[in-house]
Amino acid sequence: MSINKNIFQSKKENKNILNKIFENSLEISHSTFINFALYDRGFGFYSNKKRMLLADFITSPLTHKSFGIMIAKQIIQIWDYYKNPKYFSIIELGGSSGKLKEAIISYMKKHNKKIYRSLVYLNIDEANNDSLLDVNFNSKYGCIISNEFFDALPFDRFQKKNKALKEIFIKKDSENNLVEVLKDSEKINIFDNNFISKIPENSRIELTNNLKEICNKISSFLDHCIMLTIDYGFEDLEKLLINNPNGHIRCFSGHNMDKDILSNIGNKDITCDVNFYFLNYFLEDTGFKKLGFCLQEKFLQNMGIANYFNSIKDPIEKQQIVSLMNPNGLGGFKVYFHQFSSEGFWPQGLNQ
Ligand SMILES: C[S@@+](CC[C@H](N)C(=O)[O-])C[C@H]1O[C@@H](n2cnc3c(N)ncnc32)[C@H](O)[C@@H]1O
Repeated sequence: MSINKNIFQSKKENKNILNKIFENSLEISHSTFINFALYDRGFGFYSNKKRMLLADFITSPLTHKSFGIMIAKQIIQIWDYYKNPKYFSIIELGGSSGKLKEAIISYMKKHNKKIYRSLVYLNIDEANNDSLLDVNFNSKYGCIISNEFFDALPFDRFQKKNKALKEIFIKKDSENNLVEVLKDSEKINIFDNNFISKIPENSRIELTNNLKEICNKISSFLDHCIMLTIDYGFEDLEKLLINNPNGHIRCFSGHNMDKDILSNIGNKDITCDVNFYFLNYFLEDTGFKKLGFCLQEKFLQNMGIANYFNSIKDPIEKQQIVSLMNPNGLGGFKVYFHQFSSEGFWPQGLNQ
């Protein structure tokens, strides 16, 4: 995602922000820092209504409704697999203002009244004051969907130095300069020796904070479900553990991309390639089974986007649909499927 306007804060604003972030400790983890920078109710990137109004996001649900329509078709196949239960829940993680929900529900209302009448739709988004870990919900059948949710979660950062992996903390000095400090930390226990030995010297890697708790929470919502996760990132260690002194992060401010998390706090979107290796690991640990993944381009083709494209006359809309398929952009995102509880479902979206 990116944004089309730059906003910079004054020195005084910056000082106030730093005072708030470092109120309880002069040394904090990256995930604590990023949590403030993105989600603080006062200055956080996602909480600032003025900034959101200026925003020019380019996520798939905002690009064209056909993205949501193809997901709706996929969900109908899941509902059929569960034999059309009377109540069927769609839990969307980080659905923001509800664009994807709107496209899914209006497609179902028009094309499948029966599923429409059975729907319970939950859009859990921090920006609407619903933090995933605080939500308690349980139902029997449904699906869990997300688009660009996991890449927006606060993450910790680690660096390999002298063959050992250290966590990178952020420290504020008396002149309000921020510096990085490498230290031992308990979080490193999640990485086994084999994994650490494959990380090139000086390279950095990132890992979502609380990923185990997040996966546990997700697994508590539905007794039987399919999880559909769309995001960018890698599970292949060859791609994750490349020589990468700057890590897999990106900050967006205006049309500019940089890798400096510590500047212009609150005015930048901070995001990171999803580490699907660990996401799969923690999901499987809570009982999910990975069914597979493909690129968004392929998923949309499998769900029939070509027919939809041919039915559209407006050239601007056609262009928007093409950009959902662009393998160098949104079309290159990964679409993952996991199944919880029952077995034997094969999603149409993953067909060869
Ligand atoms: C990159 S945006 C994606 C928005 C939307 N899914 C889309 O594709 O346009 C990530 C969203 O995740 C939400 N989010 C981040 N952490 C969250 C949490 N712990 N619980 C719920 N929502 C969260 C943010 O508020 C934000 O709206």
